[in-house]
Amino acid sequence: MQRHEMIDHARLVMRDNDRGTYTVPTHGLYPFQWNWDSALSALGFSHFDEARAWQELTTLMAHQWADGMVPHIIFHRPDDGYFPGPEVWGTGHTPPTSGITQPAVAGFAVARIHARAHDKVLADEQARALLPKIHAWHQWFYRCRDPQGTGLVAVLHPWETGRDNSVDWDAAFERVPTEGVAPFTRRDTTHANPAHRPTDDQYKRYIWLVQTFRALGWDNSKLHDASPFQMVDPGFNAILIRSCNDIADLAERLGLDDIAVQSRDMARRGLDAMETLWNDRLGQYACLDRTTGDLLDSPSIGGILAAFAPIPKARAAALSQRVEVLSHSCNYLVPSHDPTSPDFEGLRYWRGPVWLIVNFMIADGLEQAGETAMVPRIVGDCLALIEDSGFAEYHDPITAEPCGGAHFTWTAAMVIELLYAHGLVV
Ligand code: GLC
Repeated sequence: MQRHEMIDHARLVMRDNDRGTYTVPTHGLYPFQWNWDSALSALGFSHFDEARAWQELTTLMAHQWADGMVPHIIFHRPDDGYFPGPEVWGTGHTPPTSGITQPAVAGFAVARIHARAHDKVLADEQARALLPKIHAWHQWFYRCRDPQGTGLVAVLHPWETGRDNSVDWDAAFERVPTEGVAPFTRRDTTHANPAHRPTDDQYKRYIWLVQTFRALGWDNSKLHDASPFQMVDPGFNAILIRSCNDIADLAERLGLDDIAVQSRDMARRGLDAMETLWNDRLGQYACLDRTTGDLLDSPSIGGILAAFAPIPKARAAALSQRVEVLSHSCNYLVPSHDPTSPDFEGLRYWRGPVWLIVNFMIADGLEQAGETAMVPRIVGDCLALIEDSGFAEYHDPITAEPCGGAHFTWTAAMVIELLYAHGLVV
């Protein structure tokens, strides 16, 4: 496929999933607006329609809760093709939203789109409107998800990390009960191959957490301490730190001094604390289970995604080295779990497959750190996967088999972003 054909195809995917003021990740499987999907998809739009890119972010932030939280799903229109729908969440918002959040990539997206905008007047106006909201979300994270002030936030549900069924959650998930879960029918397995999706047992535990938080009235001053699942994910924290850092720069330029100073402070404290997540045995960062205090030994992509934050140079070099090691056990970088680990499953969602969004963030972080050795390989593998197997949700890192949903918005957005940002099309 010629590069310009790839762009045309990617734009078609984005257009098909465009609902006017927001995009759905893909028709059928995910018929609503998802938080980090939207923020990353805005990057794709920004190369051919800046106003539409800003619109995507504006719609997302319009559904922020009064406490600052930005929900992971906004149920703009009814659709019974997805479970769990609004009636299970019961958050009482209009339009309905879920009650948990997702990786805070919006701040990074705003800063990146602003920095390269052609329409500077529009960009300044949009950034001025969005930054206070994004900043309130970042403050919510450190207030509600780091009540002890460690500098690192915990997620309370695997769906918050965006890496729903990662091996990282397995041990902690054993402690999440299944008793009392109301009977339900999954809808995801009617849209995608069940062998590519989480198991039924995992789904019961996902829903147990939702029911428990709902019983607490979605009160974020209570949820953290009440949750049996409190996971400190390096990738998740890295995204938050990067966004705090990037909006600090932008706020400075726009004269929003309070936001700049406070964001810089949150980023610095986060970065200092990231050091406690370094796992020497793995040669990468790892998750910390806050309920037990254990630093995990799980070689997942969460610890490599930490490259997205402005981590110390030696750590970025080590992560680049780690990616190089992974390249010996797969054909397409970067697998979401180490293929040499017994837990690796090449087709099952976040337990092995490659995701373009994660590849983009790892490549971007390594590039910012000046650790560019693996970047062309990561970018090249992304494009090869699309050429071989199309715009799938994720791909097997050994065979390139397309998995999950097809015709996927953020996959398409990342193709556009990677081709333009790496000067591979003009
Ligand atoms: C799945 C993914 C999550 C994504 C969502 C919509 O739940 O794990 O990261 O945001 O689908 O694409």
